[in-house]
Amino acid sequence: MTAVLDTPAYLTDSFAGAGVTALADVVGAEQTVPTVDGTAVRYANFDYAASAPALSEVAAVFTEALGQYASVHRGAGHLSQVTTARYEQARETVRSFVGGRADDTVVFTRNTTDAINLAAHAVPGDVVVLDIEHHANLLPWQRTGRARVVTAQPTFADTLVALEAELSRTPAALLAVTAASNVTGEVLPIRALTALAHRHGARILIDGAQLVAHRPVSLASYGVDYLVFSGHKVYAPFGAGVLIGRSDWLDDAAPYLAGGGATAHVDLDAGTDWHTGAARHEAGSPNVLGAVAIAAAADTIKNLGFELIGYHERDLLTRLDEGLAALDAVTPLQIFDDVDDRVGIAGFVVDGFAAREVAEYLSNHHGIGVRDGKFCAHPLLTRLGYPEGAVRVSFGLGTSSEDVDRLLAALAELTA
Ligand SMILES: Cc1ncc(COP(=O)(O)O)c(C=O)c1O
Repeated sequence: MTAVLDTPAYLTDSFAGAGVTALADVVGAEQTVPTVDGTAVRYANFDYAASAPALSEVAAVFTEALGQYASVHRGAGHLSQVTTARYEQARETVRSFVGGRADDTVVFTRNTTDAINLAAHAVPGDVVVLDIEHHANLLPWQRTGRARVVTAQPTFADTLVALEAELSRTPAALLAVTAASNVTGEVLPIRALTALAHRHGARILIDGAQLVAHRPVSLASYGVDYLVFSGHKVYAPFGAGVLIGRSDWLDDAAPYLAGGGATAHVDLDAGTDWHTGAARHEAGSPNVLGAVAIAAAADTIKNLGFELIGYHERDLLTRLDEGLAALDAVTPLQIFDDVDDRVGIAGFVVDGFAAREVAEYLSNHHGIGVRDGKFCAHPLLTRLGYPEGAVRVSFGLGTSSEDVDRLLAALAELTA
């Protein structure tokens, strides 16, 4: 199956394994939290996949933009112009960050969920999805009544075959698929999925919520038609998200929200002329600072470089996986047998403990924050055999080997 897998160098290169410090400064890194024995310990955040902390550089840009903040788009005042320029520049920074085409539309949304709801509003036909998706990439399509859900197979190779069968059976407008599972972190090969969709005359939408902070993406060079992601998962937790992609369906769709900013002209008798482009779907006052924060995060991530980020996360993941494997009571969750690449996420269950008990123990006794539950992926958890839920740990730029060791020691104590 290696033909369809993109194997990054850090998966094959050897690494020192001696331990790593945080790769970037995040706001609140030294925050302490209370534990049951009455002491305060530094919070160990293992819930990055839900919401990553703000990068310090993002907070600095945000604060500067806040200091010059004024109305956006229609103000003649100097600071209105500065704010408008920042907002529109953020669009271009995002386009460049994800390798968008010059004529792609970049819409700022509230988050990934909002971005996919917008896409669902615009797609002119059936949508094929896998059953491994976060509800955000399932329910909006189902609501249109045009979703066709394919069951993922134990290998990605067989999953491609199942998708191919569905796309051959009846044409679809779109294949909408996650780039990285929010339950297991497994990274799906985007190029293979894109080629498959295009072979069958469908477009592809990539849910990049768990990917774009961790792996490079290039819409133009991969041929990906649409990409969505959330600011709060890319170290910019200020309430904005992104839909970027081909403009024709978006321009043909009715405006997502009706209101000011989306209109070129309104006449009570003659009717309303709506804008095309991003403005068509951004009625109302936009979240300027959220968009600026995403752009700042994109700049910071780009400056660090995905190679370094890949090595950092791989180091931590190897340490975490080896540590978890040494704990007999821990069973990891996995979707595919033939996918090697994972972002910094591990889903698992612990014999003898409900997921919530594990999460509460880690928090109350050790000041460690993890996620438990079904991660808004109920169909996947049920099919994997864990309808009651699991534990998920996830990390990123602010995580060190010391954090991983603390987590492993706490789990060892719990399961001893
Ligand atoms: C893969 C994936 N898609 C979509 C979402 C939804 O993101 P948001 O809550 O920012 O809309 C998440 C959130 O966890 C996710 O992990």
